[in-house]
Amino acid sequence: MRKLIPLLSLALASAAFAQKFDGLAATPPMGWNTWNTFACDISEALIKETAEAMIASGMRDAGYVYVVLDDCWMVKERDPDGDLVGDPAKFPSGMKALGDFLHGKGLKFGIYNCAGTKTCAGYPGGRGHEYQDARLYASWGVDYLKYDWCSTGTANAQETYKTMRDALHAAGRPIIFSMCEWGTAEPWKWAADVAHLWRTTGDIIDCYDCITGWSTGWKVILDKQVELAKYAGPDHWNDPDMMEVGNEGLTFAESRAHFSLWCMLAAPLIAGNDVRKMTSEIRALLTNREAIAIDQDPLGKQGTRFYIGGGREIWTKELSNGEWAVCMLNTGDAPADLAIEWERMHYFMRGQYSVSDIWKGAAAGDTKKPLTVRLDSHDVVLLRLKPLK
Ligand code: GAL
Repeated sequence: MRKLIPLLSLALASAAFAQKFDGLAATPPMGWNTWNTFACDISEALIKETAEAMIASGMRDAGYVYVVLDDCWMVKERDPDGDLVGDPAKFPSGMKALGDFLHGKGLKFGIYNCAGTKTCAGYPGGRGHEYQDARLYASWGVDYLKYDWCSTGTANAQETYKTMRDALHAAGRPIIFSMCEWGTAEPWKWAADVAHLWRTTGDIIDCYDCITGWSTGWKVILDKQVELAKYAGPDHWNDPDMMEVGNEGLTFAESRAHFSLWCMLAAPLIAGNDVRKMTSEIRALLTNREAIAIDQDPLGKQGTRFYIGGGREIWTKELSNGEWAVCMLNTGDAPADLAIEWERMHYFMRGQYSVSDIWKGAAAGDTKKPLTVRLDSHDVVLLRLKPLK
């Protein structure tokens, strides 16, 4: 028994570490990530200019606080101590200084690595270095880690991501853990106590519904979220990937629909455009408080597709205080007059509601009469419903 006691306390101690940091993502994380627009072409100047633009545009104050360096921030080899090294040509002041800069601006510092031996772009991965890397990230002031799944061979996703979760917890700095396993091992079924968010699909690109190998447009990703709503909630979100809002391959309507539907999904809102150069329309879209409030609603329910047919989809999302969000998408190639017949929703909504149109910023009647709206191809109407007294 005497011999068993130290073993038992060791087991208890490691069990105490085997957890993620709770409460870091009570609502879906919001921020910006380098990958969608800049891929490997990243630098300290880009991050600093972007941070300033996030402040000047009102993005930071609207909630976009995580500034995430994706792949390609490192040099190709670890140093003699086995530590990762930020590329001094890209980040001459070093990673700690970059974290300090972001914190000084009221922003948070996010970084990327990969669970395999190499990142997807061929930089050193985290496999076998989890605890060492977690301590390094903590020492740099990292607040968010995106962890990819390239070069993992036959590794088991659940075990591998748990190792990194435990390493982050042991390092002691609260860091949001964002799994990027592409949905291959159905993380929604097991990752609620492993990560704060997990990718559900392959990569997004800036088109409506194109498919280019591993990468697809946002509509293709949207279709894959239909069955996943029940797995999401505070501190454990489905991640349908970073946004392409404002990027070249989308019309304004498609950007607006993409943003609206990501809000309906309670998706992490990680912008992926060049915020230094965005138009005032895109700025207004990304910073719209009413739309963001749908995404960030404290009830933390992911929206579901209520209806599909007749060239439209209608999505609904339950909000706190008995309110609802409703979003109708014109899936056709031409403008159309499309209707929402409220009475069809009465089996899950209770009573009657007033309706406000978020993109018009105006009242849109109530649910006593069907609502018909003219929508451009791939555009949406985004509505908030409040119970009528
Ligand atoms: C992919 C990931 C992308 C991006 C890229 C970097 O696996 O899904 O979001 O991080 O790697 O190489």
